[in-house]
Amino acid sequence: MPGLEDQLRRPVRGMRDITPEQYYALKKVEDGLSKVAEAFGYRRIETPAVEHFEVLARKAGREIVDEIYYFRDKAGRELGLRFDMTVPVARVLSYRLDEPKPVRWYYFTKVWRYDEPQHGRYREFHQFGVELVGSDSPRADAEVLALMAKSLEAVGVRDYVIRLNDRAAMDRMLASLGVGGSREEILRALDKRGKVPDGEILEMLRRAGLDGATAEALMALISERRPGSEAPDFFSKYDRDLGERYGRIVKALDAYGVLGRFEVDLSIVRGLDYYTGLVFEAYAGEYRLAVGGGGRYDNLIELYSGVRTPALGFAIGVERLMEAAGITRAERPLDYYVYPVTEDAFKTAVEVAEALRDKGASVAVDLGELTLREALERAAKTGVAYFVIIGRKELEKGVVRIRDMRKRVELEVELDRVRGGLASPYAP
Ligand code: HAM
Repeated sequence: MPGLEDQLRRPVRGMRDITPEQYYALKKVEDGLSKVAEAFGYRRIETPAVEHFEVLARKAGREIVDEIYYFRDKAGRELGLRFDMTVPVARVLSYRLDEPKPVRWYYFTKVWRYDEPQHGRYREFHQFGVELVGSDSPRADAEVLALMAKSLEAVGVRDYVIRLNDRAAMDRMLASLGVGGSREEILRALDKRGKVPDGEILEMLRRAGLDGATAEALMALISERRPGSEAPDFFSKYDRDLGERYGRIVKALDAYGVLGRFEVDLSIVRGLDYYTGLVFEAYAGEYRLAVGGGGRYDNLIELYSGVRTPALGFAIGVERLMEAAGITRAERPLDYYVYPVTEDAFKTAVEVAEALRDKGASVAVDLGELTLREALERAAKTGVAYFVIIGRKELEKGVVRIRDMRKRVELEVELDRVRGGLASPYAP
């Protein structure tokens, strides 16, 4: 009988199956990142994958709206899969107005975007992120920036840089160039910098209403990069208050010991429309795509709740982070594989397995379909620390035979000791 057609055997385009050896790598990253967020006092939130389309579309920006997985349910509701967690968090806070501020929440979960699949770009992927809601303080900006730096470090990324810019400065810059046209369209064009050829960006800027010379001047201006420590001076060129704000942010970043990781980069403008102030993206080693991004979005929550609430956050693309950090697989060998040689050894085998499980070990009992040799071969191949053999001889002697699969030695251990729960076969 022919099985599924080839195409149906694979996951849907842009999505990936996560097999156990990949899952445990993902889980390790999840644990590392969650630990950092928890250590900073953030608490985990989860929301439904499905949202009202209207909620998602309200402030996504045109580009993202095109990427929303959209459908109608059987009752005719217009729904969509969340494309990030910032919007669902804003929605949750719109009906939990009395949540004490500042709110510190984090997430590690799946999001969906109908993007063109390519390297580092999937249609279903994981985001780890934090949202700090209800504070306008420069210290809040620094806390979130520092948290992003510490998150990258927690998974072993040593060589990284976080590039930052400020949308308020961008607005001043656009005004100083006498730019009319659509601000959002211009920012979206600038966000493509480095991702598409400059010629294409100039063309987009012209379509957004800029004349050729202004578009060129803007492109030259955004090429500037400075060390993060120069952010105060740099931004005060556009606005004194802004310069002062960055003075405070830089001081706080220095207190966190991560200031050296930051760079002012005027080409960082971000593709999402909801940003109002600080914007930033993280780059790791030679990995070309941003592993994470975030910023301040002081108007988004109000859009849902009607109450002005300053906020900022970031999200890291977990798959990209893992690729950049070279974390792809994590083996999870079994602690014990218990093999009853004869039918009457089965009950003892289960007893032994249960005693070991009670001690926290992961233990599989043979199902009676493999010969001893086959079971040993399989154990060597799939990863088992100790192979426990219980045959008639062992039963008579009141022992089990434990083969250390790594050292390739066998020990005899008294059954009573195993029944009592064995920390290690070598324990006295
Ligand atoms: P974002 O830049 O759209 O920001 O996404 C954050 C990260 O998710 C990106 O830096 C990237 O690593 C990853 N990512 C985005 N699209 C894909 C894709 N198609 N495949 C794989 N990874 C992808 C946000 O989502 C904002 N909500 C971040 C934020 C939180 N801003 C404030 N708070």
